[in-house]
Amino acid sequence: MSEVILEVKDLATEFDTEQGVARALDDISFEVKAGETLGIVGESGCGKSVTALSILRLLPKPAGNIVSGEVIFKGQDLIRLPADDMHNIRGNRIAMIFQEPMTALNPVYRISRQLNETLALHNPEMNKAEINEASINMLKRVGIPAPERRMKEYPHQLSGGMRQRVMIAIALLCKPEILIADEPTTALDVTIQAQILQLLKDLQKETGMAIIFITHDLGVIAELCDRVVVMYGGRIIEQADILTLFDKPRHPYTRGLLNAIPRLDKSSKEVLSTIPGMVPSLFDFLPGCRFQNRCDYVQEQCTQDIPVLESDSDGHQVRCFRFRELLS
Ligand SMILES: Nc1ncnc2c1ncn2[C@@H]1O[C@H](COP(=O)(O)OP(=O)(O)OP(=O)(O)O)[C@@H](O)[C@H]1O
Ligand SMILES: [Mg+2]
Repeated sequence: MSEVILEVKDLATEFDTEQGVARALDDISFEVKAGETLGIVGESGCGKSVTALSILRLLPKPAGNIVSGEVIFKGQDLIRLPADDMHNIRGNRIAMIFQEPMTALNPVYRISRQLNETLALHNPEMNKAEINEASINMLKRVGIPAPERRMKEYPHQLSGGMRQRVMIAIALLCKPEILIADEPTTALDVTIQAQILQLLKDLQKETGMAIIFITHDLGVIAELCDRVVVMYGGRIIEQADILTLFDKPRHPYTRGLLNAIPRLDKSSKEVLSTIPGMVPSLFDFLPGCRFQNRCDYVQEQCTQDIPVLESDSDGHQVRCFRFRELLS
């Protein structure tokens, strides 16, 4: 069994807002093993990005605060690490790619500068020529044609797919042990999306990095991930290895998500089911289970108590009072 390199334990994150304090993450615990791909899935607003930003301590300040928990990376708690040490880990040992590459690329710098500066920062022993060569090689690796020419261009001169590849190149330059990819392909068309997923798989095989892949698309999860964390309303509601999750989903929410995926073996005339209702805002959640207002199986207990995340001996975890009845 591979070594656990990241352990998120009982993490809770809050935002100070005009309406008061909003708890965006509650009781979040999961592990990432070396070399594996962990998927985090859930509808918009369930806390996927806040989880990633909390791990890297990139929450907007002063509004966003981690109020409890630990994020253990190779034995060190990142939450309690001095800012300088955290800076060395970020982008170096744990890298992140964002949904919209323009927000991460600097529009007024040429591609060469963005790549070279990243490399120079983390590799003070390399000279300018070595750095430039390494940057060009990385652009080649991520499938950018004519990389020498592209190095001289600005981000706005590249297509969305090319910009996303440049971001992946920057993230990979320092050979991170963990890559956090937050919806890196949602803004791209399907063909480019497939190419980028393949690229991540190839690079992972080559470098052995672990990937945390965040998406609202279970189809992409099926394609890429070894294990999956399903989030709803800032809590983990189910967690399992990929085959178990698709074969024996336990939480009514996970079942709803799976029923909403188009399937090749079903006639296209069959209407896809969607989960009725909307995710409430952080201030509108009722006491008890946060999925209660959209759940077909809600009963009194669900409106009063928060179900705990129960784990079976195979590590399949679910947070639902009624899953046993639903299985039988
Ligand atoms: N800066 C902020 N101030 C206040 N609330 C915030 C802030 N950032 C996020 N939130 C809230 O935290 C919750 C989780 O947001 P998050 O961005 O993690 O969702 P997500 O799962 O990444 O959604 P999406 O799929 O749309 O990216 C949401 O209710 C959101 O409104
Ligand atoms: Mg997000």
